[in-house]
Order: sequence, then C-alpha cells, then structure tokens
Amino acid sequence: MLKIAITNLKGGSAKTTSTAYLAHALGLQGRHVLVVDADPQGSALRWSEVGEWQTPTIGLPVKDLHTRLPGIVPDSIDVVIIDTPPLAEQAGVVRSALRYADLAIVSMAPTMLEFERLPDVWQAIDELEEIDQAPRVTRVLLTRTVANARSTALFRSAIEGGGHQVLATVVPRRESIAQAFGAQVTELGAYEGVALEVLGLEVTL
Ligand SMILES: Nc1ncnc2c1ncn2[C@@H]1O[C@H](COP(=O)(O)OP(=O)(O)OP(=O)(O)O)[C@@H](O)[C@H]1O
Ligand SMILES: [Mg+2]
Repeated sequence: MLKIAITNLKGGSAKTTSTAYLAHALGLQGRHVLVVDADPQGSALRWSEVGEWQTPTIGLPVKDLHTRLPGIVPDSIDVVIIDTPPLAEQAGVVRSALRYADLAIVSMAPTMLEFERLPDVWQAIDELEEIDQAPRVTRVLLTRTVANARSTALFRSAIEGGGHQVLATVVPRRESIAQAFGAQVTELGAYEGVALEVLGLEVTL
C-alpha cells in the first residue's frame, strides 16, 4: 500500500487542493484511494461531501494516526493520502501523519514566503529520522506556478541546492483550480503527471 502525507509548515500552501486532485488522479490510474482529512478544519472532508466524490474520505484529525490508521484502512484500499493541517499549528497531528507515510509531499508556491519556511519542515522530518519513523521519500511539489516566470526554476534550484528533491511536474496557477472547492474533481491537468511521478516513486518505497 502507498501511504502519502501532503504537508507543509504553512497554511494555504495547496495541501488540500493537492490532496483532492492527486487522489482523483491516482484513482484514474486504477488505484483504490482513501483520503484521510487530518486537518481539524475538515476542508477535504467537506469538499468530498459537497462535491460528491467517489473517492472515500474520512476525517481523522488526531495525533495517533500512525497507530490508528493500520486498523482503520480497509483491505480494498491501496493508496492512502493524508491531508494535514499546517505543521506550525498542529505539529502532533502532522508528525503522526509523517510517521505513517512512506512518501511526504511538501506542496508550496515558488515564492520566498513559502521557501523560507521549508527548513522547519525538514527539521520535523529529520527529528523523525532519528527515531526511524520518517517517510522514506520526500518530494517538494511546486504549485500555483506562473507560466514563463523565472520563479519556478529559481526556487527549484534553490531547493535542490539545499539537498532536497522537487517533482519534475509543476502545477500551474489556474482559476479552475482556485474555484474547485465544493465541486467534483474532474479536470486533473498537471496532477495527472504528478500521479505518474508518484507511482514511479512507489517502486522505491
Ligand atoms: N494551482 C492552483 N491555482 C490556483 N489556485 C490554487 C491552486 N492550488 C491551490 N489554490 C488555491 O490556494 C488556496 C489555498 O489552497 P489549499 O486550501 O489547498 O491550501 P491548504 O494548504 O490546504 O490550506 P490550509 O492550511 O488552510 O488547509 C485555495 O484558495 C486554493 O483554491
Ligand atoms: Mg487544507
């Protein structure tokens, strides 16, 4: 089973959006996906209800995801994606999601505001590495990128220069994505490429 946590230190860094789209894109690849909304705000869960997702979604904003999820996830599920709250606000919940996950995806816009908060995310993962509970693979996902802007390449190389890996696929800023909350998730766009990359990583997990 593929276990993914979508995370970041900050709020508003496209965690919920990426969870929703990636879950649907992996579903399109024939995977049986369960979305776990670990954010007390419950945005993903609400979106799944209002948007009548086919993808099963549960709300579980708790600090012991890593011990509880193995007993909760049905056998029929082969991908679990956890939408986490901001690390800065709910460190316990995020740490437990990271302990459960094999793959951590750090979604962020290529801006200085988001870039300068990355070290806090790496520190949280490093601390879990010390107790052998960190995700085996971590990737940054650049979202809300602007076509032809230098920021995408600049922040990609800055992140890679710091020794961290960035998914090749980036998600452009799109009005259709900005307005997607509450609707069915249909036009998956770049997230189809993200899903293929994630499935490519799965063999290394
Ligand atoms: N590719 C995109 N293009 C345009 N808007 C986007 C894109 N991705 C996300 N957004 C918008 O950015 C805002 C923040 O996204 P989202 O709610 O997914 O972030 P979050 O990290 O889950 O936030 P929170 O920490 O509050 O849960 C939302 O208004 C969302 O619609
Ligand atoms: Mg969210």
